Amino acid sequence: MAVRPIRIAPSLLAADFTRLGEEVRSVEAAGADWLHLDVMDGHFVPNLTFGPPVVAAIHRVARAPLDVHLMITDPWRYADAFLDAGAAWLTFHVELAGRGDVLGLLQHIRSRGAKAGLSLQPDTPVESLRPFVGALDLVLVMSVFAGFGGQAFLPEVLPKVGALRGFGYTGLVSMDGGIGTKTIGASAAAGTDVFVAGTAVFGAPDRQARIAELRALAAAVAPA
Ligand code: DX5
Ligand code: ZN
Repeated sequence: MAVRPIRIAPSLLAADFTRLGEEVRSVEAAGADWLHLDVMDGHFVPNLTFGPPVVAAIHRVARAPLDVHLMITDPWRYADAFLDAGAAWLTFHVELAGRGDVLGLLQHIRSRGAKAGLSLQPDTPVESLRPFVGALDLVLVMSVFAGFGGQAFLPEVLPKVGALRGFGYTGLVSMDGGIGTKTIGASAAAGTDVFVAGTAVFGAPDRQARIAELRALAAAVAPA
């Protein structure tokens, strides 16, 4: 069986926002596969980051696909703006299921030619994703509570990856929060495909060496 490719997705949340273009070029040159963009609305999470104009600006300088993680209460209202801005992967949170038509938005994202994802908080049961697995290209498993970079990895989320495969889910599984040299092995062994890393990449003295180290640590334990 072919080995599933490992993707490292630096989170721009840990970048120097005064030099975003240079930071994008830096992590791309260092080997980043995707760029992870954390959009927060101060409502779904107690923090604010940036919106479509900044995503569009990043899109103008980026070569890697933009992996946009919406931590916002009304993705139905804003999804098109982020798709217009250049999101290749657009992910919102399954905790919003009571507020709108989750399946409809996933289908809409796909109809616009992008890949559709759902994320879940550490205390949200993985069963909440089961109704949507056929409409998903990506599941973003939060390994910290959404809102801030630099938090400690929560290993209790690891069984969610295997549980998703048990549902028959065949898309990509990403893990987000506290991923670094000490934690990526456990995440990879669980079956994660995409590793979001903010602090571990942007805070490294040598970003190319850090991405290579993360990739090697994941490859050493990833299931076939
Ligand atoms: C948290 C964000 C993460 C965050 C990860 O709400 O979704 O993407 O930037 O940062 P680190 O890797 O520092 O935990
Ligand atoms: Zn994120």
